[in-house]
Amino acid sequence: MSEQREPVGVIGVGWVGLVTAACFAELGHPVVARDILAEKVEALSRGELTIHEPGLAELVQRNAERLTFTTDMSELLDAARLLFVCVDTPPTYSGDADLSRVRSVVEELPADSEHVLIMKSTVPAGTGESIRRDRPGLPYVSCPEFLKEGTAVADFMNPDRVVIGADAGDEGAGDAVARLYEPLGGAILRTDVASAEMIKLASNAFLATKISFINEIANVCEEVGADVGEVARGMGLDERIGSSFLRAGIGYGGSCFPKDVSALKMLAGNTGYHFQLLTAVIEVNELQKRRVVAKLQRHLGSLIDKRVALLGLAFKPDTDDMREASSLVLAARLQGEGAEVVAYDPVASKRAGELLSSVELVGSAVEALEGADAAVLVTEWGEFAELDWAAAAERMTRPLIVDGRNFLDPEALVKAGFEYEGIGQTVSAARPAAAS
Ligand code: UDX
Repeated sequence: MSEQREPVGVIGVGWVGLVTAACFAELGHPVVARDILAEKVEALSRGELTIHEPGLAELVQRNAERLTFTTDMSELLDAARLLFVCVDTPPTYSGDADLSRVRSVVEELPADSEHVLIMKSTVPAGTGESIRRDRPGLPYVSCPEFLKEGTAVADFMNPDRVVIGADAGDEGAGDAVARLYEPLGGAILRTDVASAEMIKLASNAFLATKISFINEIANVCEEVGADVGEVARGMGLDERIGSSFLRAGIGYGGSCFPKDVSALKMLAGNTGYHFQLLTAVIEVNELQKRRVVAKLQRHLGSLIDKRVALLGLAFKPDTDDMREASSLVLAARLQGEGAEVVAYDPVASKRAGELLSSVELVGSAVEALEGADAAVLVTEWGEFAELDWAAAAERMTRPLIVDGRNFLDPEALVKAGFEYEGIGQTVSAARPAAAS
């Protein structure tokens, strides 16, 4: 007979909520997940996923018996004591995090609630304290999410670390959350709530800083004839630096980095502290997307009526997430310069269509490249490495490619007949031998 595991409640079935719900169900917990969108709940109850995340559909289907989706808060409250809050906290016009959805969840809890509120949504440091002030007696734990889209299920099951923040009086609630994660074997860091909140923001801001740093190095490499790939490799071998998040490209996007960097900058600003470094991190990231336009102009001159193919639209591969994707800014900038933009993404086209109404979306990379004056690789989808680039070159008006993720093999591309430009690579080394 299998032992009955602690039931888990999940509030907000977006990307974080769904991964959390499905993974706890996989670990044997009965899970009730609640969302206010009836359409989403109905689709999930039929086993249809609303997002693309490798391995997630299988988990949802395999654990259907343990996983209940509902719009009804009381069903959730009856079923589980431990409630993970996974609602989104998008940036407001001021750059602060919008906590209105978090606040509504707290308001929905009955006054005498004995539930434990476990905050997974990314919130500014100080949020836990203010909720505890408003709702004294409600056990509160901060348990920030560090999952990466595209590998979220694997990240959940094999965490580097799980951070559990609980203040004095809520130690028991913290223990209950720790018990949920113990079977996964990662390091469990117990801390106070404010520190847990800061760990999340500081981690994402640091990773974003690493990316903007290597992007600036890439830009200097272009000026001095160095190769940023080699530079990053050499830097990464120093274990104090580490090799991850040193891939130069056209900037970071997604639901976390842009929002969290801005939220941390604003949080600091609201306390009177000017976080100068983050101002630069954000600015470098904005300019990095736009540098592609200048690269194309260097080859093509004016972009008026030039047909530019974007390969990939999602903010990174293995997801259909378009939030803060570099492709959005790039497409708008290219159109602003008078170019005609055609694009292909293996899974994000549907979502992209809602955001890029004037971009022609096609069903394959080959179709996008047909008759194009230039291509830009925006997202490093695996299938682009497998493409018959020599055949593609034949179909383009001008076989010119800007590899925005340094993903393709420059020599192979040049051999296939392309003029190739990466980010932070020496242009001359990548010119076709036969180019005049
Ligand atoms: C991130 C954090 O990594 C994760 O811990 C947090 O919980 C959510 O935010 P995610 O947004 O899924 O995860 O993607 P990530 O793989 O971190 O990449 C973010 C962006 O940075 C992508 O646009 C990616 O293309 C870019 N990136 C990443 C680089 O440009 N260079 C790199 O070296 C790494």
